[in-house]
Amino acid sequence: MEKQALETLLKELTLDEKIGMIHGNTLFETKGVERLHIPPLKTSDGPMGCRQEYQSTKWFPIGFSFDYTSYLPSNTALAATWNTELAYETGKVLGKEARGRGKDMILAPGINIHRSPLCGRNFEYMGEDPHLASELVVPLIQGIEENDVSSCVKHYALNNQETRRIDVEVEASERALREIYLPAFKAAVTKAKAKAVMGAYNKYKGRYCCQSPYLLDEILRKEWGFEGIVISDWGAVHDTKEAAETSIDIEMSVTDNFDEYFMAEPLKQAVLNGEVPESAIDEKVRHILYVMNELHMLDGERNRGMYNDIADREKLLKVADESVVLLKNEQNQLPLARKDGMHILVIGDNAERAHSNGGGSAEIKALYEITPLLGITMQAGGNIRVTYEQGYNARTKGRIWDPDNHTEESWQATSLEEGADTPQSKAAQFDEELAQRAVEAAKEADVVIFVGGLNHDYDTEGKDNESMKLPYAQDELINRLLEVREDMVIVMMTGSPVDMSAWVDKAATLLHMSYAGMEGGTALARVLFGDVNPSGKLPETFPRILEESPAHVLGNFPGDDFVNYGEDIFVGYRYFDTYNVKPLFAFGHGKSYTTFAMKDMRVIADEGASHTVKVTVENVGHMAGAEIVQLYVSDEECSVKRPKKELKAFTKVFLQPGESKEVTLTLTEESFGYYDENRACFVAESGVYVLGVGDASDNIMLTEKITLQNEITYK
Ligand code: BGC
Repeated sequence: MEKQALETLLKELTLDEKIGMIHGNTLFETKGVERLHIPPLKTSDGPMGCRQEYQSTKWFPIGFSFDYTSYLPSNTALAATWNTELAYETGKVLGKEARGRGKDMILAPGINIHRSPLCGRNFEYMGEDPHLASELVVPLIQGIEENDVSSCVKHYALNNQETRRIDVEVEASERALREIYLPAFKAAVTKAKAKAVMGAYNKYKGRYCCQSPYLLDEILRKEWGFEGIVISDWGAVHDTKEAAETSIDIEMSVTDNFDEYFMAEPLKQAVLNGEVPESAIDEKVRHILYVMNELHMLDGERNRGMYNDIADREKLLKVADESVVLLKNEQNQLPLARKDGMHILVIGDNAERAHSNGGGSAEIKALYEITPLLGITMQAGGNIRVTYEQGYNARTKGRIWDPDNHTEESWQATSLEEGADTPQSKAAQFDEELAQRAVEAAKEADVVIFVGGLNHDYDTEGKDNESMKLPYAQDELINRLLEVREDMVIVMMTGSPVDMSAWVDKAATLLHMSYAGMEGGTALARVLFGDVNPSGKLPETFPRILEESPAHVLGNFPGDDFVNYGEDIFVGYRYFDTYNVKPLFAFGHGKSYTTFAMKDMRVIADEGASHTVKVTVENVGHMAGAEIVQLYVSDEECSVKRPKKELKAFTKVFLQPGESKEVTLTLTEESFGYYDENRACFVAESGVYVLGVGDASDNIMLTEKITLQNEITYK
């Protein structure tokens, strides 16, 4: 439909009809207008696939047998691939699944920056770096929206903790906002043209995010030119008048008193008694109609999508493959050679646990989930004996994938109540019997693989962790096992960094993976056996201990009524580098079974501040593999304090043994500036900048200097 036709349609709507379109009429849908062929807007969570169907007014799953769906790798897993093409492929699958399930909007992706390792929802987000998140979110959204489904970028903005998420007020400087917390949202809106944004629960500058003139009107609409829908997080609107006056278009919540929502009957009354002009409602409906039209919900031919497409599993496996990060391989223990008659012992609760059905709104009723134990056994083949010991007791429910788990009321029913918690079982104490069995078995096996870490009792919505320590007394168990098997392969499966200081120096072989979707266990096994050469890199810094993590040293976390982001722009490696704190594993770190050399760095000055950087990468080892070339920019002399270096470009290159390729990285003016609060714009000062290329933030292999002759400013 043409814009004019949409305006005509808008004029035909009665006040009641318009009000129906701007608030939840069920837990996940708005009201349509049948007489004008305007359908309801159907939404669904969330980042890791399309959630199971809930009753329209109660947080009980309907219990259909036909809403089992693909379980996608978490955004943290996707971020570890550093692969923009895979981000696009993942988006295509997510959008296709959502559309196949009849949805109009998928409540994804989550792109809040990892500020603290303790945030329970980190696994839903893309790590600590604004550039990495921006580069991945754009193709991800494009992939989703190709299916005539709206993405919904969340949670805008500064929602970096779960503690008091409903009402905490974030105190962050304008510079931190612009340099760290907004870039991925800006890229989503201005580059990917995302059709929807979800307003966060928390407050900023004295206003709830969903009623924030600054975040919504000034930045999102005016600066970024956003024409799509702003939808509230579920229960994040608190005031009728403020919501009417700011650019929030749809109010959703978790309760079933739909007519009493702030943007329902109370808003209608406010219009009728002249407190709010009807034009304010029209503006909201205008955004909704615009998106509906773009999605072909009003006319034209609409993509029909599909879910559980077998071909897509292959793609999700690829993402999972590339998400596995090899942190240490000191004795070249990996890859494991398959030998007939060998005995592989797998230890650890996470080896046998399915994670898809946990985490909060990101839960998925997975069609299936390959656990590490299943993956290893499948990939080992029949001539190898694989045995299992639990080792530690994670007293959480749903040890194995269990359809009956989905008959309980969701915790979301009470998620707005004070003190509301997602269920978290008490961390179990050391279990001598389980440990003893594991230690004895470990002495006998040819290969021992430990798969531990966190689970969705810890990586979960609605709750942050109290410590970075491994739960279930895993440290003690790992130490006991390392005493008898110093060659044990350790796999940490977590959505956030964990404290490994109790044993990491003794461990020679260590891998990390996040929740990697339905084929996660297959991917891990393929990496262990060398069928896939690991190519993931950490999308965030792993501090040695929590006390060395910037939000906990310089800022505060989780605060109380207020949380002060005192570390400012020094988030993640920006802090560790600048303050010379050695992390356990640096941002961008990840090893391969082969070796890469980087050489012949050339910098070509283009227009203005733009530069092209060329580097030759050679696979000098014996196995095909992929390297991620990372380009960091340092402004060595600047009138303000800046991070020692910042990631500004990267690319992933696949090489056969002996093969070399020249890769090209591009820097634009946006690669050089810092945010100047006084001038309210980014400033790239004139002078010398160092461009550093490496395979990790702590391993810069080549550098070149460039000079910007003139100062450049940009928004
Ligand atoms: C979460 C959102 C989610 C919504 C709907 C809220 O609790 O914060 O991310 O999309 O619920 O389930």
